[in-house]
Amino acid sequence: MELRAFAERVLLSDSLDLKLERVRESFTDVTTGTELRVTEPVRPSNLQFAPRRAAPAMPHPSTFTDPKRRAIAHHIMANHELQALEVMAWVLLAFPNAPAEFRTGIAHVMQDEQRHTLMHMERSSALGVKFGDLPVNCYIWKKALGFENVLQYIAGLPLTFEGRNLDHTLEFEDYFLKAGDPKSAAIMKTIHRDEIAHVAFGMEWLRRLKPEGQSEWDAYVQNLQYPLRPNKSIGDIFHAEPRLAAGMTPDFLNRLQHDSGTPSPE
Ligand SMILES: [Fe+2]
Ligand SMILES: [Fe+2]
Repeated sequence: MELRAFAERVLLSDSLDLKLERVRESFTDVTTGTELRVTEPVRPSNLQFAPRRAAPAMPHPSTFTDPKRRAIAHHIMANHELQALEVMAWVLLAFPNAPAEFRTGIAHVMQDEQRHTLMHMERSSALGVKFGDLPVNCYIWKKALGFENVLQYIAGLPLTFEGRNLDHTLEFEDYFLKAGDPKSAAIMKTIHRDEIAHVAFGMEWLRRLKPEGQSEWDAYVQNLQYPLRPNKSIGDIFHAEPRLAAGMTPDFLNRLQHDSGTPSPE
């Protein structure tokens, strides 16, 4: 399947099934087309972006013994995964001249994001809340609209949002286990493993695309756009191990901790 057609299907289809449909054939990138900056993803009527503060906030983990609260958590995370998928499709359409290997890599990450969305959707439903029954926010999507080049995308999404998810997935695995829900915990573990690969993809391309002679840290920070800051790439607890597994150097990790002021428990 052509990358452009895949991106258009994800971004411009109002059917959730189509947005999440797995591509079985291999990807091709023959007709990259011209730059297209989509301002808002097309979504089914029950998943339209809600006005600010209309969507429910993440329930406090101390309430997770209540299945309904866990369902809301999965509903929120399904929307995060769907936005990540849509932002990546946005990148394919906005940067047709990016290296073909980078573009194909994004498409493979998108297939993981499709699976993650489905896993959270199904778990939310099993716990009593169908995906689309609650209002959803557009926080991640809105950040994408400011990316002017591929390096800004890499700093913003893989290295900041997905970087933070390295911590959040472990935190939520723990919350769900403590609430007696190993099924929800297993979903977080699976996503955590995939997220290491996604952050590794970001680190690899930061290295390949940054100007020669510029440090990885400087390339990261200089391509982050306000209000994103390095401390936004860290959850409640900083985990060094998955970041090292994702190819961040000890120096990069030091800077990350130093900048955020978060002490390491490891
Ligand atoms: Fe994901
Ligand atoms: Fe991801």
